[in-house]
Amino acid sequence: MILNQQTGLTRPLKTLVKMLAVASVFATSFNVFAEPIEIKFSHVVAENTPKGQMALKFKELVEQRLPGEYKVSVFPSSQLFGDNNELAALLLNDVQFVAPSLSKFERYTKRLQVFDLPFLFNDMDAVNRFQQGEAGQTLLNSMSRKGIVGLGYLHNGMKQFSSNTPLNNPADAKGLKFRVMASDVLAAQFDAIGAMAIKKPFSEVFTLLQTRAIDGQENTWSNTYSQKFYEVQSQITESNHGVLDYMVVTSDTFWKGLPADKRKIIKEALDESIALGNKIAAEKDNEDKKLILDSKRSQLVTLSPAERQKWVEVMKPVWAKFEDQIGKDVIDAAVAANK
Ligand code: SIN
Repeated sequence: MILNQQTGLTRPLKTLVKMLAVASVFATSFNVFAEPIEIKFSHVVAENTPKGQMALKFKELVEQRLPGEYKVSVFPSSQLFGDNNELAALLLNDVQFVAPSLSKFERYTKRLQVFDLPFLFNDMDAVNRFQQGEAGQTLLNSMSRKGIVGLGYLHNGMKQFSSNTPLNNPADAKGLKFRVMASDVLAAQFDAIGAMAIKKPFSEVFTLLQTRAIDGQENTWSNTYSQKFYEVQSQITESNHGVLDYMVVTSDTFWKGLPADKRKIIKEALDESIALGNKIAAEKDNEDKKLILDSKRSQLVTLSPAERQKWVEVMKPVWAKFEDQIGKDVIDAAVAANK
């Protein structure tokens, strides 16, 4: 073996060092050995839901289109963060994507409370028209000053009341305790009928119902099915009194920190995933309702037009209480979306 006086290395060792240096430049240039950047997507629902499926599609598309560069880790069912901390975690960059229901942004903007106003939208088509129209698109930016970027709306569906006694008239709910999402509008909606609203995270609802700590809740067919609420609630009133949809959000810091070309690819992947999630939401609304009713664990309470009108009359005054916070222009645009 010949020892090089300058480097102190033997010839075979020198060749190995050279090869490693070349490999390292190659690896860095082509991102061969570098770990992919992890994007965390946390949500509170099960995987067999519109949001659960949307998040998985997003993972699939991002990893397909940016192989080896980005990976998406999806954390369903409040495994990583729940209702009480997911937006704070987003702002700390502990998670990069969350999609809370529109009722859960109250601490960051009051304008999104429009979606909680009872009996505002006739159906999901009206909700969609409003979201995609000028006012809805402007609301995506309503939290920009707080560092939250709204990237798109995702549907779940219209809400129904569930309980253990039939709710045909608002008076039937008097004195009962209902779980609501963290929204003052939803609390006011139950105040209006003389019921008690209890703000609790989604992850606690099943146990609260099962142990009879609360009497009822309001949710979509999809959430009522996937969380098995129907197994511990004997009645579901098909009221379609409000909407439960989502906004997919990220933080300004994370979003602006992405290279422009990657951001474009990630946004396209998100838009496609949302389109799939919306399709699933429309299908699940019927399918999960059928599964619940077929199980015979819960009975359907169908409101006559006169009964439904009583709910409208008693709950609609809630709008006026929140008009200043939400903005009359926003409420008017939502009403106009009913056509
Ligand atoms: C969700 O669909 O993300 C949860 C809704 C709820 O808290 O009721």
